[in-house]
Amino acid sequence: MTTTTPRVDLHPALDVPPLRDLVHPDRELWTPRELRELTSAVASELTTPLLEILRYDRERRWWARLGLTGGVELWLLSWLPGQGTEPHDHGGAAGSFTVLTGELSEEYRYPGGPVRGATRPAGSALGFGAGRAHRVLNRGMIGAASVHAYSPPLVPTREYPSLLDIPDEIPPLPARRLPLERLRELADQEDP
Ligand SMILES: [Fe+2]
Repeated sequence: MTTTTPRVDLHPALDVPPLRDLVHPDRELWTPRELRELTSAVASELTTPLLEILRYDRERRWWARLGLTGGVELWLLSWLPGQGTEPHDHGGAAGSFTVLTGELSEEYRYPGGPVRGATRPAGSALGFGAGRAHRVLNRGMIGAASVHAYSPPLVPTREYPSLLDIPDEIPPLPARRLPLERLRELADQEDP
């Protein structure tokens, strides 16, 4: 008897061929550019099912996990006006987000550099490497939604009181080389 180890875990509403192909289950480590292409493609090719599962929560930011492999995690987030993150880095993981609807404000900083700010309108997509910290906020008048991806998956974020507090060097944390089933248990406990 053979047992098959699952290589990809997808949201039931998005368990469709486009996403199965886009998450490349065999790819272990994604570059910022590959992550940007992933979130951009998911936002543009799967807009309708994403909008069908999208929810807003007045108490806190809302999220749904869209996909998980041994190499990447993929999330849909929503942001009501005023909702945002604390300043944080991604613990050595590379990341990306694409704004699906609405508009987000981002403040970001590379170690040793100045704090910069940018407005991210619907359709904008960016990828970033390990040495970057940021804070994302909905300063608009309407809700916003965004698609996020990180690689390696489930590397804990680190929060800071201010972007000015990030260290000169952000040491990468070890990626969790775990079976998908164990990664899924961790993902159920964590927010993106
Ligand atoms: Fe982030």
